[in-house]
Amino acid sequence: MKTSTRPNSKPRFIQHKQEAYWYYRFLSILYDRIINSCWTADMREDALEPLDLCRRDLTVVDVGGGTGFTTMGIIEHVDAKNIIILDQSPHQLAKAKEKEPLKECKIMEGDAEDLPFPTDYADRYVSAGSIEYWPDPQRGVAEAYRVVKEGGKACIIGPVYPKLWLSRFFADMWMLFPKEEEYIEWFTKAGFVDVKLKRVGPKWYRGARRFGLIIGCSVTGVKPVNGLSPLQLGPKVEDVKNSVNSISFLIRFIMGSTASAYFVLVPLYMWIKDKIVQKDQPI
Ligand SMILES: C[S@@+](CC[C@H](N)C(=O)[O-])C[C@H]1O[C@@H](n2cnc3c(N)ncnc32)[C@H](O)[C@@H]1O
Repeated sequence: MKTSTRPNSKPRFIQHKQEAYWYYRFLSILYDRIINSCWTADMREDALEPLDLCRRDLTVVDVGGGTGFTTMGIIEHVDAKNIIILDQSPHQLAKAKEKEPLKECKIMEGDAEDLPFPTDYADRYVSAGSIEYWPDPQRGVAEAYRVVKEGGKACIIGPVYPKLWLSRFFADMWMLFPKEEEYIEWFTKAGFVDVKLKRVGPKWYRGARRFGLIIGCSVTGVKPVNGLSPLQLGPKVEDVKNSVNSISFLIRFIMGSTASAYFVLVPLYMWIKDKIVQKDQPI
């Protein structure tokens, strides 16, 4: 069963493993300085709340954990030694390794669509701001299901497809902005029960969602029984180590990176609007 969701009309130039790898090769240099413009510590706490990090001895895997921004929220509830940060970018992980509070976390390279953990391994699975780069998101969600124990929870935090035509255009050029119903469908098909979606966003957006939020929702599901996902998926479509056509790679990389600039301007625009428009008015 092929589960990739990238029709030709939506090229999503960076929703590829190699393109994402090189994107973060450069972005990792500035990532920790710019991330708070759209993914704040308040939002992180709000987004992690449904995951129910109720005990310090829980085993947690943070997939696409990058420089550890979300992990810094997890360690407020769970001992660092019980957390594994996994990412396909060694450059992002190098930044996580430098952080004193994360020193006891296990840090490893790996692919969200093919996790190097045994089945029924973790109490909690978290992935924040990473699904948008996965060529086959359904496979990543099925992997989340596989690695979580019976009764354990998985939480995927990610963007939501915008309503405004201009934002849709740039979202479709850049990467995957799933619709809310797509998240629910991926979780349900993977086998999760009690699937819940919570909307999150920066305070200065005042709840406006039409422009597109790079972090827009937190989706949580419970694994009802031990074992593999009931979904039968074929071999994965892409690997970060596959050879690629360098011309099409370069075109995708340049087009996708350029489109991503729009989503740096949107939070800035909303921040200015929040300062100008009367506090009791919608923006
Ligand atoms: C926006 S960053 C989010 C990092 C971190 N979770 C946070 O909250 O700041 C996205 C991360 O997903 C990683 N990523 C993208 N595709 C991946 C894949 N297939 N497997 C593992 N990590 C992936 C990127 O390397 C990057 O570090």
